[in-house]
Amino acid sequence: MRLEGKKIILGITGSIAAYKAAMLLRLLVKEGAEVQVVITAAGKEFITPVTLSALSGKPVISGFFGANDGIWNSHVDLGLWADLMLVAPATASTLAKMANGIADNMLVTTYMSAKCPVFIAPAMDLDMFAHPSTLKNLDVLKSFGNVIIEPAVGELASGLTGKGRMEEPERILEIVVDYFSLKGSLKGKTFLVTAGPTFEKIDPVRFIGNYSSGKMGYAIAEQLAGQGANVVLVSGPVSISAVNSRIKVVKVESADEMFAESMAHFPNSDGAVMCAAVADFTPVMVENYKTKRGKSNWALELKPTRDIAQALGNIKTENQILAGFALETSDELENAVQKMVKKNLDFIVLNSLNDKGACFQVDTNKITIIGKDNNQQFFELKSKKEVAVDIVEKIKSLIL
Ligand code: C5P
Repeated sequence: MRLEGKKIILGITGSIAAYKAAMLLRLLVKEGAEVQVVITAAGKEFITPVTLSALSGKPVISGFFGANDGIWNSHVDLGLWADLMLVAPATASTLAKMANGIADNMLVTTYMSAKCPVFIAPAMDLDMFAHPSTLKNLDVLKSFGNVIIEPAVGELASGLTGKGRMEEPERILEIVVDYFSLKGSLKGKTFLVTAGPTFEKIDPVRFIGNYSSGKMGYAIAEQLAGQGANVVLVSGPVSISAVNSRIKVVKVESADEMFAESMAHFPNSDGAVMCAAVADFTPVMVENYKTKRGKSNWALELKPTRDIAQALGNIKTENQILAGFALETSDELENAVQKMVKKNLDFIVLNSLNDKGACFQVDTNKITIIGKDNNQQFFELKSKKEVAVDIVEKIKSLIL
């Protein structure tokens, strides 16, 4: 039994694929999972709660109130209880509600209270799946860290053939089992990750910053935490947030603050990934008042910041892994290798501004991982989440 002791919320919505949810429920229970079904009103039109309750051995939850007056179904308790929430099938309407926080039913309120990872298996007609609103909602849900189990291409209830069929229950079961077996492989390890830009203050309203969005560093932090590690994420100012509860976000603004936090946390870490785009220079003087218009020219005097990666490289012990990034525009490989050696890194991740779809702001990246032994692994352009998987695999190969 591969899911012994795991607590799963199975959310079922109003799609013809709801009949497959019964099979999925049976498979989850057979593997030892404790499953609580939460179904929408429309879901009940497709499959009866009696079937689901018989299969799960628990009353099915649908509304905010229980069968007897005066009993309130606590979505908060339920959201905290679960190790995983799986919404299968997820209709276009439920996806939209989840993406936009429209918490008008028990399923969406439970989703919004859940602290655990959420897996979503959409099911709908091909045109609905291909509609920009659905695609946008799926992107939003992905940005929350939810895992989308892509629908398959095949025959649909409408008689049409296309993408929109809910993935088969057996396959969904394997994805869930995979998640739990992977989950523990970095259990007990702690990592430090730096992410995002730094802002170097010029005066009370101005700063020197850069285009880093933090997406790559956050994806690495999520991937490490998703595999059981505790992560201290020292983050510059970004507009994204961390999802996994094993990630402790330490917010900083300047290179100096990032230096101090990184130095404080590194000694307790098994490794660190330096993903932040740290300012190399900072103003010598911060003006106390907003500098007014009227000057003809304004020369700012800058001084170098401290190199955090270098400082960690200097104090690194034999049991610690240190990885850095190199963002290059020319002589990429040569420069990256030089940086790795100089900063005493175990490996360096090279990305080039010359590659379309790589580096700043975008959701994709194209990397080369260069190891201390000069071994070079070239990767295709992928989503930053997938790139994070490759980087974490490299870390695991060195640490486990
Ligand atoms: O030397 P360069 O800035 O290109 O090196 C990039 C690597 O060093 C990245 O991993 C970056 O996070 C790290 N770095 C740092 N502190 C700095 C500058 C860069 O940790 N002040």
